[in-house]
Amino acid sequence: MSNLPTHIAIIMDGNGRWASLRGLNRTKGHEKGAETVRTITTFCSNHPEIKRLTLYAFSTENWKRPRLEVEFLMKLLERYLKKELPIYLEENVRFEPIGDLSPFSASLRKTITRVEKATSHCTGLIQSLALNYGGRDEIARAAERLNRDSLPITVESLGDALDSRHDVDLLIRTGGDYRLSNFLLWQSAYAELFFTDTLWPDFVEEELIAIIEKFKGVERRFGGLQ
Ligand code: FPP
Repeated sequence: MSNLPTHIAIIMDGNGRWASLRGLNRTKGHEKGAETVRTITTFCSNHPEIKRLTLYAFSTENWKRPRLEVEFLMKLLERYLKKELPIYLEENVRFEPIGDLSPFSASLRKTITRVEKATSHCTGLIQSLALNYGGRDEIARAAERLNRDSLPITVESLGDALDSRHDVDLLIRTGGDYRLSNFLLWQSAYAELFFTDTLWPDFVEEELIAIIEKFKGVERRFGGLQ
């Protein structure tokens, strides 16, 4: 494939419905969703033109979910990262979290930092997990940083102060809804948006390839004329 998007971002929605449709607890949907994270990451890491994959794993609003579901997601994330480390290394994938990690447990933060450091030398795909992430929160934290250092607020300086200043080329949302849900608001200014009814646990490489094929056919003008 040529002319691939350099930065793909995904809102992984539909885990709960996937489980409910099968009469299972919502947590089973999250477990299956974590497997999809792995297959899609491997696919992207096998296509060197794709440099960055950013996945919405836990939003600043997800704390509103029932306590047991939040606790399960935290445990799943820690388990996933520990299990994933040798795979990241084997596939030369660099793990880079974005979001405000401060509310997470010390143990989860330690695991996140350990995996980030252990993969910092990897030169292949950058898999960025958005953790306790909200686009508005990210922009507010960036502005606060500039204010604290008495720096002027410009598009450049604010962009640089964000957790991630990398523009998204292709933003995909699974699960049938047509909204951004506070994900990468700044970085998606010129992203091509694709929505699919497929529930995240059912999302497979073939569908990603089909979306990328459509992306390749889009003329991107970035506000100009061509
Ligand atoms: C939305 O499904 C999904 C999330 C809350 C975040 C994504 C989490 C995962 C893919 C699993 C864990 C990820 C990692 C990296 C280990 P939903 O529960 O909102 O689904 P619903 O809309 O059908 O209820």
